[in-house]
Amino acid sequence: MSKIVIMDHPLIKHKISLLRDKSTGSKEFRELVSEIAMLMCYEATRDLPLKEVEVETPLMVAKTQVINGVRFAFVPILRAGLGMVEGMLNLVPAAKIGHIGMYRDPDTLEPKEYYCKLPHDIANRETYVLDPMLATGGTAIDAIQALKNRGVKNIKFLCILAAPEGLEALTEAHPDVSIYCAHMDDRLNSHAYILPGLGDAGDRIFGTK
Ligand code: URA
Repeated sequence: MSKIVIMDHPLIKHKISLLRDKSTGSKEFRELVSEIAMLMCYEATRDLPLKEVEVETPLMVAKTQVINGVRFAFVPILRAGLGMVEGMLNLVPAAKIGHIGMYRDPDTLEPKEYYCKLPHDIANRETYVLDPMLATGGTAIDAIQALKNRGVKNIKFLCILAAPEGLEALTEAHPDVSIYCAHMDDRLNSHAYILPGLGDAGDRIFGTK
């Protein structure tokens, strides 16, 4: 059974309200996506293992803790996932970045992979797959399967808005993947857009509409 974490932090709720507003322009939208991703990264890394070390302060030796040997890969699903990378890197600057390109066939709404370039050692990394919108779940399911086919084992999926339909499909397809979602929305419309949503995340991040 998938672990599902829905964020409840007031800062995230506030920033999502600004994201939804159709009068929010691309520059501010991009900044907000990045800031929310950073806050989500904080939550998603909460269970990292620690080890004790000794550090000399100016006064004495302190027993203190550091993260115990976890290496990360962040994999944005192109193109909207790119908007989350910078915020994630603010907290984990040593992460390697892979890219997976998926598009939705406009007729069938089925996701198709058109690009995949990953860190060579991704199989040994904790991998966070990034896509701001979990709509039908088809893209996330296929992107995660593509990573598993290449040997990736420890996967978390991070999205800003999720539709219940997508969450159910993703948990059923990949019960081993933990899902971090900033907010659960109501439903999908007949074009697989999330309602109330924020529109097309890629277009709003890149100003293409
Ligand atoms: N992708 C988007 O960008 N927006 C939606 O509402 C659904 C999928």
